Amino acid sequence: MQPISRRMFLASAAAVVVAACSDSSPSSVSTFTPGTGGAVTTTGPATSAPPTTAPAPAADLPGYPFTLGVASGDPDATSVVLWTRLAPDPLSGGGMPPTDIDVLWEASATPEFAGVVASAVVTSMADHGHTLHVRAELDPGEWYYRFRVGEHISPVGRTHVAPAADEQVEGVRFAAASCQNYANGHYAAHRDIAEQQPDFVVWLGDYIYESAGGANANPDARVHLGPEPTDVETYRNRYARYKTDPHLQAAHAACPWFVIWDDHEVENNYAGLMPQDPADAAAFAARRFAAYKVWWEHTPTRLDAPTDPNGEYRIYRDAQWGDLLELALLDGRQYRTDQACGDITLSLEPACVETFDPARTMLGGEQQEWLLSTLQESAAVWNVVGNQVVLADATINGAVLNYDQWDGYPAARTELLHSLAKRAIPNVVVLTGDIHLAAVAQLRDGDRATGTDVGVEFVTTSISSDGLVGDELTDVFKAFPDLVDAELAHRGYTLHTVTRDLWTADYRIVAEVADPDSEVTTFSTYEVAVGTNRVTTA
Ligand SMILES: [Fe+2]
Repeated sequence: MQPISRRMFLASAAAVVVAACSDSSPSSVSTFTPGTGGAVTTTGPATSAPPTTAPAPAADLPGYPFTLGVASGDPDATSVVLWTRLAPDPLSGGGMPPTDIDVLWEASATPEFAGVVASAVVTSMADHGHTLHVRAELDPGEWYYRFRVGEHISPVGRTHVAPAADEQVEGVRFAAASCQNYANGHYAAHRDIAEQQPDFVVWLGDYIYESAGGANANPDARVHLGPEPTDVETYRNRYARYKTDPHLQAAHAACPWFVIWDDHEVENNYAGLMPQDPADAAAFAARRFAAYKVWWEHTPTRLDAPTDPNGEYRIYRDAQWGDLLELALLDGRQYRTDQACGDITLSLEPACVETFDPARTMLGGEQQEWLLSTLQESAAVWNVVGNQVVLADATINGAVLNYDQWDGYPAARTELLHSLAKRAIPNVVVLTGDIHLAAVAQLRDGDRATGTDVGVEFVTTSISSDGLVGDELTDVFKAFPDLVDAELAHRGYTLHTVTRDLWTADYRIVAEVADPDSEVTTFSTYEVAVGTNRVTTA
């Protein structure tokens, strides 16, 4: 374990606070500790030195290391995680020497860093791909941050902490997004997210796709490079491919993100330790562990790094945005029963008997109970669930079109929706990604005619991933029991504006996903009035 090597802090009216301190007593700095990935507190002498820019640690690097940008995430009421990775040669292993490298981070009230109000040296570990997860304790307000090493200075990010859970908050604006297949198109949607400057982004999964690239792919083309990733190095190269995109970097630099995963961060439609192809089961635990580790490395999260190659890596967690939002973030991959019926898709045959086994679970018993208790104990106006796959009923005459969705786990879904009703949880909004189309669904306990409204599901379309079916099937999707509306033709994301009285969801769509400069507009808008659990068209 290495201590923080130096800390400087403005002890006067600084609005950015690394940690509580005074001139007369030791101060503390919280960071992720090299070697554990966990957050601990280390101590160092307080200083009343003026907030001047500190010299960056010397380092002999083969090139500019901040090729993957910066990010922040998982804000709570007192801190936010600042992220970067040193990678002078990002697509080929990173290009870093095999040693740990010290890096300086700085925060300022201005993007020019006219006054540096907080800074500290932290160590990027070779074992963690030279990534950094700095837990920066900040006062409320907008702050700018950057990293420096040797003569190199990173891009500047903007971030903030969250309002305290007992603070009355009048409004918030955030983006929900998922599914950014790099090989399927450009990220005009991310450009728009950055321009909108939301308070935060909720990422619902499929940050990368694991499919192999072409054998002779042009490194400058919009294609995946190399074979399907299966180990740490190949997953790192895949994340690097995505994170070199300037619009994705801009969206990360614009605001903090809350990030969860879906399947493609490991492999399509895996379930727990069961890979898509059962023949690969023996090696799958090692592959999944590598994928989880590299997901952590590239995610601005306050979670600790995974350590147990064969054990659980818990990412489901909750967050608050003042007294306005409770945000429960799920993991719909690690605890689920394997997909029923051989995971067939788009079959119009009645669902097989296995589908209805009451033991089948999407979240696992522990997570489902955690979700319900978290929502029940919430004092927030709105109870929000970040969810991977479509919860609403999208069956057709008893046929399950996609066994990977909650349709393939009907007993678990019925129990969840019934529990929401039984526990009288108010103002439930479920945010979902996965299926590369935009949809709005009314969630009920019971059937369409007599059921009780228990929440609303907003399904965001993909940032760039190809749609599953053509636009001519939009009317078919609208015929699903719970669906209020659907739009299949466009890529984009959903921009949510939330007040104490009204939830407004703007479905932002990209005119041409092949064009990074494409126009992005609002396709349609839906509303939920507080106290109704019912969606209406604006
Ligand atoms: Fe996807």
